[in-house]
Amino acid sequence: MLFQKLNISIIGTGYVGLPTALGFSKLGHNVTCIDNNNIKIQELKNGIIPIYEKDINTLFFKEYKKITFTTSIKDGISNADIIIIAVGTPTNKKTNEADLSYLFNAVNEIKIYLNKRTKLIATKSTVPVKTGDEIEKIINNSNIDIISMPEFLREGFALEDFFNPDRIVIGANNKRYLYLIKKLYRKIKRPIIYTDRTSAELIKYTANAFLAIKINYINEIADLCENINANIDDVAKGIGADSRIGNKFLKAGIGYGGSCFPKDTQAMATFGNKYNVNLTLVKDAIINNKKRQKNIANKIYNIISQINEKQINVGILGLAFKNNTDDCRESPSINIIKSLLKHKNINIIAHDYKAINTAKQILNNKISYSNNIEDVINNADIICILTEWEEYKKIDFSLLYPRHKIIFDGKNLLDKNKLKGYQYYCIGKRG
Ligand code: NAD
Ligand code: UGA
Repeated sequence: MLFQKLNISIIGTGYVGLPTALGFSKLGHNVTCIDNNNIKIQELKNGIIPIYEKDINTLFFKEYKKITFTTSIKDGISNADIIIIAVGTPTNKKTNEADLSYLFNAVNEIKIYLNKRTKLIATKSTVPVKTGDEIEKIINNSNIDIISMPEFLREGFALEDFFNPDRIVIGANNKRYLYLIKKLYRKIKRPIIYTDRTSAELIKYTANAFLAIKINYINEIADLCENINANIDDVAKGIGADSRIGNKFLKAGIGYGGSCFPKDTQAMATFGNKYNVNLTLVKDAIINNKKRQKNIANKIYNIISQINEKQINVGILGLAFKNNTDDCRESPSINIIKSLLKHKNINIIAHDYKAINTAKQILNNKISYSNNIEDVINNADIICILTEWEEYKKIDFSLLYPRHKIIFDGKNLLDKNKLKGYQYYCIGKRG
């Protein structure tokens, strides 16, 4: 069968929209990216990538000249077969619901400029159940179907996940235009799971909350390991070998962060209430994850209290919420730093491979930043690893001379046998 190009317009060119645009362009479709952030669009037009995402450079420079970048929804959707919405849905801090204002702004504008060519409006943003029904009411056009197309990519692995997803989920109440989805994903040889729209919306939240609960569980077991002198890495290996449990998302640490798990668990707990279901597991995960980050900060401070210096220099390795990204949204590292800064005797100098600029937008000049790991370590009274950058594993601590040789490894990255002369603290096992 001859490959048929589709015209796809993606609204929102962030951590999801941009990799998705590059992915569909690479699959041979005509892609238009629309974003109301003019600086971002100008950068993209000029070949500047506004985010850091692992391995994005090569694909970006192959594809970006084929992609149209615009700030105008009117121009951007004029030829679209499918419009994909990928704008942010952060937490509304007053109501704890997902803030859908960005989404509805986009939908209201789409409605004005829609034309007969467009058949599908697909929501890739993570939105509470029944949001598709609201969009349908606003669009109010019987020639167009509103579908849910939840996104499961992980930051730092966005392209890998785009081209090799475990599954693609499509939620549609009307099947008449689903042939377009088959064309869209024709070259991705992975199962497509078709559901009704509300179920697809729920799949997205259920998956994220399940993973958040799984992490929360392994972190609780890590605490238990510390009290009974067991080893969390061995426990995780032992349970992860059971295929019913699976070995992924069992890394104990300092709590989960990012722009997704915290906000999506919060939104889900809130819409659970709205539909009269008390989602206790989800609510516990939210509470425990916040507590965990506070507890970790206290733990670090307790270690610091043993150091006999008036001012303590804390060297932080890692600011991003995880490795392979520059994203600091809800980063546990940043939350822990904020708690530590409440103590007047603490100075912080932090390193990250990619997230110094994004961290600066949150912490400003409350801490110092350095691109030089050796500087950070050699000037530190205690070194805290708070992001799982693989590169930190390669540091040869025997060649470095911090004032006090103390390491807190919040990600269990290091091999304690290579840390002779250091006091080593880690998670869920004896350091
Ligand atoms: P982001 O903040 O990085 O990007 C959103 C973009 O949308 C921004 O560039 C913003 O300027 C633009 N925007 C907002 N309102 C607009 C409008 N009316 N018109 C045009 N552009 C507009 O967000 P993100 O991390 O890419 O997440 C987007 C959605 O995808 C969220 O709902 C998120 O939950 C979901 N999601 C994210 C990930 C992830 O890994 N980040 C994974 C799966 C799903
Ligand atoms: C997560 C999901 O994994 C994606 O499938 C989903 O699409 C995305 O949210 C979303 O909805 O936006 P992401 O937030 O990019 O992706 O990152 P993860 O790799 O899931 O990590 C989230 C947090 O959990 C990080 O802080 C990470 O350090 C932590 N984590 C992860 C652990 O503490 N232990 C683990 O075993 C795994």
